[in-house]
Amino acid sequence: MAAPTKEVKEIMSDKITNVMTETRRFEPPADFSKKARVPAKEAYEKLYRESLDDPDTFWKRETADLVFDKAWKKTLEWELPHARWFIGATLNVTKSCLDRHLGTPTENKAALVWESEPGDSTTLSYGELHQQVVEFAAALENLGVKKGDRVAIYMGMVPEVVVGMLACARIGAPHTVVFGGFAAESLRDRINDCEAKLVLTQDGAPRRGKPVALKETVDAAVEHTPCVEKVVVFRRMPDLEITMKEGRDVDWYDAVGQAGSNRQPEPEAFDAEHPLFILYTSGSTGKPKGILHTSAGYLVGTHVSTKYVFDLQDDDVYWCTADVGWITGHSYIVYGPLSNGATCVLYEGAPNFPDWGRFWELIDKHRVTILYTAPTAIRAFVKAGDEWVDKASLASLRLLGTVGEPINPDAWMWYRDKIGKGRCPIVDTWWQTETGSILMTTLPGATYSKPGSTGLPMFGVEPDVVTSEGESADANEGGRFIMKRPWPSMLRTIWGDDERFRQQYWSEVEGAYFTGDGARRDEDGYYWVVGRIDDVLNVSGHRIGTAEIESTLVSHSSVAEAAAVGRPHDIKGQALIVFVTLKPGHAPTPELRTTLKTHVAKEIGKFAAPDGIRFADALPKTRSGKIMRRLLKQVAAGEKTEGDVSTLEDLSVLAKLRDEDE
Ligand code: WTA
Repeated sequence: MAAPTKEVKEIMSDKITNVMTETRRFEPPADFSKKARVPAKEAYEKLYRESLDDPDTFWKRETADLVFDKAWKKTLEWELPHARWFIGATLNVTKSCLDRHLGTPTENKAALVWESEPGDSTTLSYGELHQQVVEFAAALENLGVKKGDRVAIYMGMVPEVVVGMLACARIGAPHTVVFGGFAAESLRDRINDCEAKLVLTQDGAPRRGKPVALKETVDAAVEHTPCVEKVVVFRRMPDLEITMKEGRDVDWYDAVGQAGSNRQPEPEAFDAEHPLFILYTSGSTGKPKGILHTSAGYLVGTHVSTKYVFDLQDDDVYWCTADVGWITGHSYIVYGPLSNGATCVLYEGAPNFPDWGRFWELIDKHRVTILYTAPTAIRAFVKAGDEWVDKASLASLRLLGTVGEPINPDAWMWYRDKIGKGRCPIVDTWWQTETGSILMTTLPGATYSKPGSTGLPMFGVEPDVVTSEGESADANEGGRFIMKRPWPSMLRTIWGDDERFRQQYWSEVEGAYFTGDGARRDEDGYYWVVGRIDDVLNVSGHRIGTAEIESTLVSHSSVAEAAAVGRPHDIKGQALIVFVTLKPGHAPTPELRTTLKTHVAKEIGKFAAPDGIRFADALPKTRSGKIMRRLLKQVAAGEKTEGDVSTLEDLSVLAKLRDEDE
């Protein structure tokens, strides 16, 4: 086996992902393949070749069921790093998701099956969802939102969040959904960065039986957002006390009522490249990146991938457990499934509320056939114990998916045996906020899977693994994971910062998109993603930029310097450990440690609070002053510090770090 590049070797020390030795493979079950959209490896290869060699024919055929007001004249214009797809087409994305189902049997089919955390459920048919979106789109227009205006959405997992997103799309106002776990400061920064005119929120969202006060957080955030004119509030928990600011805050249904009969049944058609949404994600600087997705390419990418990766059939009940605040929720709860007319389960609460059996009960209750979840959840279920699973039948399931981080083969096997009862194929889907849709997977009826491998490229996707010199790596030689050609649902830029877009994704490897991940391709052409090789951590499937954590800590009056690193963790994948040096006059006490953890939770969000904070007299640095994170990672993991330390300025610094508490 050839030697991996330096960066990849570093992350391969991650003990939970034993990606170098796994050799098992699992063929798709014969009865699954028989009925599958892509029933054999040859069929996948034929489609894949066509998607690369004749993209015009491929994309025309595969998007025949989407609604374009004007057909496109040219499939792609590519001037590095900017791609434009489906040039000349006009469309309204919501017509493909909603209007096209009217007058067909799908009109009365359930679009959303909502399960509240307390346990009641409601169903919205495609006809009803359409009606609500049309009404709410009118409400937005009535409140002064125009094509191109940005709307921030800070809500929980309720049908109204889907209505809100689609209503924005309907009037051409890009939405920016901010995950409900983010704190006021993070919300404020995102609202200001994209200059959102309006915020959609709800009073509160039940989480493990207690309300999360979303409106209160919005109140704090919009104190410092001069761009915001109105806040629309959905009453989810009417007993929860909130303050409504006169002239600014509007009740959701009052807004609908005030719009009255202003409804426009026929929505405007926008240019293919009209912005659809901005979604913020962490990068290698302290400032989150507003990833911009546009209309036609994103719709096509999510539509086609949902259809094939989940092998969607008309009677499927599909459940993606992600939060709509992340890209997975955008692509695989909203745009992908709805544009395919699928029935989607939307669950409001926590996976372990009231107990660890909730997911499995829910699958039986709604007869879920496709489950799409994250490795971190699977590992938490493994730990909670099989007794919770054994209470349920799970007989309705036919396909399982994972996303968000590398899955360790043990968790994969448990998922297959315990949840899928050995009968359901597993699709391990690799993609990113930036890619918009799934780029790597196995197709469930077509190709065998290997536990821990994300499989093969999707249609139109040309991946590669390259060495430090930028050359294509040999089989099993680890390197940088790149994409060699544009794909329809790719990000178009970083909102307001095109230069950063260039730098971040297009400067590392000549002529290619750099994912930020390390990977290897095995002798069968299967890809094994080992994790990020940039300064981004993946904690419980949440992307967290180390620079974001560091700059937040340094903003605290006691902190001089901070360096955040990841440490392998059984359930979270990675735990967040921060090394901190203090300013003179501050003592490294346990109380200060708690204060600093709370500070991060308050500034960014609870999910980003460090698992450990280690006080240090000094951080290991190179002679040029760069913090040596590689060494800190090894120290945090309790490993021997290996590799070159010749550039370390002061060797005694390392010795001192070892015995610190967290
Ligand atoms: C990681 C989530 C291994 C990867 C959709 C990527 C994965 C980052 C997988 C994107 C997978 C996602 N196997 N790693 N199947 N899926 N990742 O933007 O490091 O939240 O770059 O998008 O998650 O995270 P994001």
